[in-house]
Amino acid sequence: MTSAALATPVPANSARITPTGVCVSLPDGREAYFNAYWLRDNCPTSFDRQTRERVFDIFHASAAPRAASAHVHDGALEVVWAGENHTSRYPLDWLASYAAPKPRHDPADLPRHAWYADHFADLGRFAFADLMNDPARVAAWLRALIVEGMAIVTDMPDNDDALVQLVAKMGHVRPTFFGQYFDVLTHAVPTNLAYTAKALELHTDTPAEDLAPGIQFLHCRANTTTGGESLFLDGVAVANDFRVSNPEQFRLLSETAIPFYCEHDDYDMRSRQTVIELDAHGEVAGLTISQHMADVFDLPQQFLDAYYPAFCAFGRLLQDPKYVMRFRMNAGECLVFDNHRVVHGRAAYDAASGARHLHGCYADRGEMRSRYRALVSESRFK
Ligand SMILES: [Fe+2]
Repeated sequence: MTSAALATPVPANSARITPTGVCVSLPDGREAYFNAYWLRDNCPTSFDRQTRERVFDIFHASAAPRAASAHVHDGALEVVWAGENHTSRYPLDWLASYAAPKPRHDPADLPRHAWYADHFADLGRFAFADLMNDPARVAAWLRALIVEGMAIVTDMPDNDDALVQLVAKMGHVRPTFFGQYFDVLTHAVPTNLAYTAKALELHTDTPAEDLAPGIQFLHCRANTTTGGESLFLDGVAVANDFRVSNPEQFRLLSETAIPFYCEHDDYDMRSRQTVIELDAHGEVAGLTISQHMADVFDLPQQFLDAYYPAFCAFGRLLQDPKYVMRFRMNAGECLVFDNHRVVHGRAAYDAASGARHLHGCYADRGEMRSRYRALVSESRFK
């Protein structure tokens, strides 16, 4: 027996015990099967109302859970358990939501909206003060980041604390091996291309970490130099197009993990990532791409006969002007973007022509989605 509906009609408000569980008629007339372990584990009394955590421990059940009696009463299935002094009561509407094996509804599981080079005018813009004072604006900001992967926060105060306050509206600062916060300035002895005035090719950040940080914040504190335009593109848009035009090469890039590294005097960070990242639906969720941090590919040389052309075809497509937004960051703006999706770079600039200072940090995508769910949906425990 499975949870699928039975072909024969069943009497309303009926329940019957099977060797491994209980069959019950649902409000829509279907009969659905529920496993006895599942029922016992998920008795409403298994969950503590205060901590909202499961406090029943099925690992310590002395025998397989077995219903001694089961019947429908007042819109709920009532089960008396054999061998223990316990009755469970399950609302039928709640049971119906688990009758088919599908993931629980997730308000943060939103379809992505792919965007192209002309997107700059339509980018979501949110004033810092509004985000500090209005939870509805925070929800709209997080929704924009989930759907489009990028938004601009405007009117940021010109101090380090503004970024601390902004990240707190989403979650917590996620440290990397650069620390909690970083400053993009020209360094006298650079350890990273970002700290020079040279062009910075299109990339996602810190691919050498096991789990590269999810959301990146870049608070522009000053930008009076000549040159240095920001380059941003939607990796989802490029990969979706690549999937259509080069399906076999898309498969190689989404299935093959390649090595990335970040190495200097006192660190040697390494990871393996697929260039194209798919989500649980098989849709493109984002990219990991960085030529300056891609390690020497240690894959079979014959495999590289196919992989390298795919890698290069995709890298060329990333640079197609139809995808790349070019714009100038202004002091007081903070770019917030999904580091697993939005590929970014910078044109070279003249370091002697003025000041250029970006103050940045990262946060987790999981925490962002958590905050979004909490803002837009009812808790199960209310
Ligand atoms: Fe970067």
